[in-house]
Amino acid sequence: ESAGTGRSFIMLLLWLILVLCVTTYLLAPEYNLFMRTWLTSSAIIKNSVFLAIITHCLFTVDDVDAYEGKQNEVYFPDKFSVTLFLSVAMKSGGTQLKLIMTFQNYGQALFKPMKQTREQETPPDFFYFSDFERHNAEIAAYHLDRILDFRRVPPVTGRLVNMTKEIRDVTRDKKLWRTFFISPANNICFYGECSYYCSTEHALCGKPDQIEGSLAAFLPDLALAKRRTWRNPWRRSYHKRKKAEWEVDPDYCEEVKQTPPYDSGTRLLDIMDMTIFDFLMGNMDRHHYETFEKFGNETFIIHLDNGRGFGKHSHDELSILVPLSQCCRVKRSTHLRLQLLAKEEFRLSALMEESLQTDTLSPILIRPHLEAMDRRLHLVLQVLADCIEKEGYSNVVEDDLLVEGLNTGTAPQR
Ligand SMILES: *[C@@H]1O[C@H](CO)[C@@H](O)[C@H](O)[C@H]1NC(C)=O
Ligand SMILES: *[C@@H]1O[C@H](CO)[C@@H](O)[C@H](O)[C@H]1NC(C)=O
Repeated sequence: ESAGTGRSFIMLLLWLILVLCVTTYLLAPEYNLFMRTWLTSSAIIKNSVFLAIITHCLFTVDDVDAYEGKQNEVYFPDKFSVTLFLSVAMKSGGTQLKLIMTFQNYGQALFKPMKQTREQETPPDFFYFSDFERHNAEIAAYHLDRILDFRRVPPVTGRLVNMTKEIRDVTRDKKLWRTFFISPANNICFYGECSYYCSTEHALCGKPDQIEGSLAAFLPDLALAKRRTWRNPWRRSYHKRKKAEWEVDPDYCEEVKQTPPYDSGTRLLDIMDMTIFDFLMGNMDRHHYETFEKFGNETFIIHLDNGRGFGKHSHDELSILVPLSQCCRVKRSTHLRLQLLAKEEFRLSALMEESLQTDTLSPILIRPHLEAMDRRLHLVLQVLADCIEKEGYSNVVEDDLLVEGLNTGTAPQR
């Protein structure tokens, strides 16, 4: 008897869901949005299987396209620059204010608001660890990574956000909401909560209510794809006076080469790629890097957090290149790519400029930053040429193309 009652109860529920689905398809998008907001905020049905069914029904065709197009790199950032936000929350931890934007299809992205103009260089007396994070550096780093053919930076796009409509009115975070104010110049400002720079003096102000920022695609949820964080062997000391071991020991690389996971596989060569990437954009803040745990030690590395790049165009920070000059190792694919980008017809600065023009917030980098990259590319090639002269081509350049080509019979994929 009770089994029969249970079954008819479930049938009733399923009918209800069906009716709900049909009505939400038919009703206005505003109602649809309301439903979704309610569903995500309602703690009672969170994690229930019905929530999964209902939310699935609530996806419009367009949303599903966007969701499935997530892997499509061309389409994805494009969609990001126009899709509306469902909710906005502050990211906890971290020294500077970052917002987690949730889209209507439950996709998420990290928003870093603009803190300074593109012309402002890092002040000479600033330490690299106290510099502001730059939204345009995040965008430019994504493009640079693709031009270098590393593909280790998740998609990032620029976005002009209406602070009232798209942040203040959609956040459910009272702490964030309370920090909004109108400045003496009649601009909308806010500052949120974080451990540095979150005060009225460091407020982020719009013009009058629009603010620029970068939107970086989230990697899969940690529950689905665990990541491992690795300490960069050439990490800086993050201390005003102390030096790191690599700064005082010229044979430091020999030690690293014998330490797992750098003693086998491609990890050391991946670190060399990362070194070149960071030197080209002048990023001194690479204290850690990440990998997906599932793939073990034999995997690619992920370059997150590039906001401290492109701080100075008038200075080339040679200490960033130390891992390369100490180890004298490079992948052949990387070496060939760098040589190509040094040619007049494929000049790095020209490719970067062309690529960055596709971003909504173009121009992303001012010309001196583009020119600095060409100059730094020549410095990298010079270091490699010196290595080859000293140790011989085959001891410096690792032929990754040959090995991968033989194994898979296709072009190398990294
Ligand atoms: C931003 O949104 C507010 C509220 O919806 C609106 O009044 C204002 O005109 C918008 N600003 C711009 C520049 O579109
Ligand atoms: C992966 O690297 C770590 C060192 O960081 C090492 O302890 C571990 O044994 C390695 N795993 C394998 C399977 O080689």
